[in-house]
Amino acid sequence: MRRPGFWRMLLVAVCMALLGCLRAQGLQGHVSVVLLGATGDLAKKYLWQGLFQLYLEEAGKGHNFSFHGAALTATEQGQEVVAKILEALSCPKDVTPDRCTELKGQFQRLSQYHQLKTTEDYAALNKDIEALVQRQGLWEAGRIFYFSVPPFAYADIARSINGSCRPGPGAWLRVVLEKPFGHNHQSAQQLAADLGSFFHEEEMYRVDHYLGKQAVAQILPFRDQNRKALDGLWSRHHVERVEIVLKETVDAEGRTSFYEEYGVIRDVLQNHLTEILTLVAMELPFDVGSSEAVLRHKLQVFQALRGLRRGSAVLGQYQAYSEQVRRELHKPAGFLSLTPTFAGVLVHVDNLRWEGVPFLLMSGKALDERAGYVRVLLRNRACCVQSEARWAAEQSACLPRQVVFHIGHGALGGPAVLVSRNLFRPALPRGWEEAAGPPGLRLFGRPLSDFHVYRPEREQDAYSVLISRIFHGRKDSFIATESLLASWAFWTPLLDSLAREAPRLYPGGADHGHLLDFEFSGGQLSFSVQQAEQLVPGPGSAPTPSDFQVLKATYRDGPLVTAWAEELIAKLAGDVEAAAVRAVRRSGQFHLALSGGSSPVALFQQLAMGHYAFPWARTHLWLVDERCVPLWDPESNFQGLQTHLLQHVRVPHYNVHPMPVHRHRRLCAEEDRGAEAYAEDIAALVANSSFDLVLLGMGADGHTASLFPQSPAGLEGEPLVVLTESPSGPRRRMSLSLPLINRARRVAVLVMGRLKREIALLVSRVGHEPRKWPISGVRPASGQLVWYMDYEAFLG
Ligand code: BG6
Repeated sequence: MRRPGFWRMLLVAVCMALLGCLRAQGLQGHVSVVLLGATGDLAKKYLWQGLFQLYLEEAGKGHNFSFHGAALTATEQGQEVVAKILEALSCPKDVTPDRCTELKGQFQRLSQYHQLKTTEDYAALNKDIEALVQRQGLWEAGRIFYFSVPPFAYADIARSINGSCRPGPGAWLRVVLEKPFGHNHQSAQQLAADLGSFFHEEEMYRVDHYLGKQAVAQILPFRDQNRKALDGLWSRHHVERVEIVLKETVDAEGRTSFYEEYGVIRDVLQNHLTEILTLVAMELPFDVGSSEAVLRHKLQVFQALRGLRRGSAVLGQYQAYSEQVRRELHKPAGFLSLTPTFAGVLVHVDNLRWEGVPFLLMSGKALDERAGYVRVLLRNRACCVQSEARWAAEQSACLPRQVVFHIGHGALGGPAVLVSRNLFRPALPRGWEEAAGPPGLRLFGRPLSDFHVYRPEREQDAYSVLISRIFHGRKDSFIATESLLASWAFWTPLLDSLAREAPRLYPGGADHGHLLDFEFSGGQLSFSVQQAEQLVPGPGSAPTPSDFQVLKATYRDGPLVTAWAEELIAKLAGDVEAAAVRAVRRSGQFHLALSGGSSPVALFQQLAMGHYAFPWARTHLWLVDERCVPLWDPESNFQGLQTHLLQHVRVPHYNVHPMPVHRHRRLCAEEDRGAEAYAEDIAALVANSSFDLVLLGMGADGHTASLFPQSPAGLEGEPLVVLTESPSGPRRRMSLSLPLINRARRVAVLVMGRLKREIALLVSRVGHEPRKWPISGVRPASGQLVWYMDYEAFLG
């Protein structure tokens, strides 16, 4: 009887035993490295040099290598280019010229060029490798395929490798991929799915070359080695802010076809700076070398990131950019690009360790200097009695305390880790040494002598570091699919919301003064220097604000307050505070009902920041309306209130009354009687169900609260709180009814922006027609209605 299965098993067992013998003798097997895109820029600049470095480090340890440069270029031409690149390779400083020539010769003999175009070419390469391994009487340890090609070529190459060029059983396959890994969350998912159909997750090494920069690669080991000292410092209780910065002097000239599609956020923040953020913010794994633990902890950081909003970022563009795009991409004369070349973004990590600590991410092209660093600035609570001249760097608790991972360039000219001397003396792993910087140098506001400065004994470029890590299977230095998608999920909503935002223009070069300085407050970023507004006069004499105030002091027979947006908000905030003080004096409590949406955000921020006498402890906060989404959803009105106001003021929890849209794990189900429950709460707590102040907005269709035209719910009748339908998503809403709003002592309607111009004009003329324009039904029975409109809503 034939038993092929038995013979095959026997053969495999014999092979494995043989392999075991070879391994036991210290022979590490053959590794082939295939560099796809071997004649391209990245390969020329870094990758061949990195492979040479790998050879120098590992060949002496029993490994056997072959290097296969590959590209679409015809064989002869490709061979010539590769030969030139190999000729230009350099050796480490401590290698003599003769030895260097010898080593380069060895490396050149192990390297060859292949034209790889068709599946047959890949099959032929596979045969070549197998024959080579056999000729040398070796076993195959593994194959590395380095994709230094544009992502549109990934799928075809992946298919060919998977179909015709995988190593045999027992040998590993590692494919190395270069960014961009998608353009947004959706395209990243698609690309990940495509690659996932050819390769297993453990086979893929996605490169973020910043993870190979020595100072970045040092973040986790540094935190690990200094656990004891940092345990007490690395948290919101001690860290004032974290800055993660990559400034460049180069611009995007010559690369605009790429840059125009990506812009600085996709190019640098979504990947390099976000990776660094996770290394700084993650809970330190017990074993910082475990890629599973590092990935798990990274994902926890992503989960804790607070969603970004439009106001989380400031954008700039160097002045020559649009012209470069017109020239390189043949755009028409009037074309203006909106692509940002500079961005500052405020990120918050909402977990127990980091809550409230601003993480500022910043990067830009054509700036005044080339510098990259992560700066962790600690709070300073000390008060020193001696005069400043007597403060000693080592001891004075009054000097700034900071930990800096200096990534490269800048005044220090290379990688370094700096720790203020008044903090602690850090331990650093092998390969780093204490160093002095150039005399007289000041960094981050202090002389360099204030810091313990550590630098690598031997500087290595990022690609050499990463190639060595690929060889050693150190997946913790690469981007796993899950973490890539989490990063895109975090950045995509911001990118969408900024898509039509015009960036601030800056001159480019050293001379942009303070134009790009930015600051944060109330969870938002803004440029520190206001750009002079240019008002373009229309035909005839344009009305001036003062004309306007004289012309219109009332609106729909109610008092009208008008001003530019900022002044208007200040006035409204002052009026709300005055109403609060009056109500508390009268009844001991102030019941304020607030609407959601974007207009009140500025008011919330103003109240949160500037109104210290506000009687928050006596204030009850109610919602005018809510979307039928969970309260933690970014679309929720309560979430906006939480972000822009509640986080910053001290309102007792029992005085905060979100609308019960989410009950019994359902959203706005009639049978859950959420609207009735809210009405009961109001009746129980608010005397006569009459709010002291209701803040409303006005939609471009005349809706107010969540009372919409042509939808009768809430316009009249008994119910104080109703479920309604919005014409746009999220459709289901809960809202105070008009009868309840009209019981209030005071109603303020805030109308801002030129998009409201048309409706403001229309509503000024119509009578009481709530079915067409619900806002026209706002007529407090015995209270007062005040309109707050900015000039844009009026003047358009
Ligand atoms: C790349 C970006 O990923 O990083 C470039 O695409 C940027 O725009 C570069 O210039 C910065 O890297 P490095 O190593 O030069 O600091």
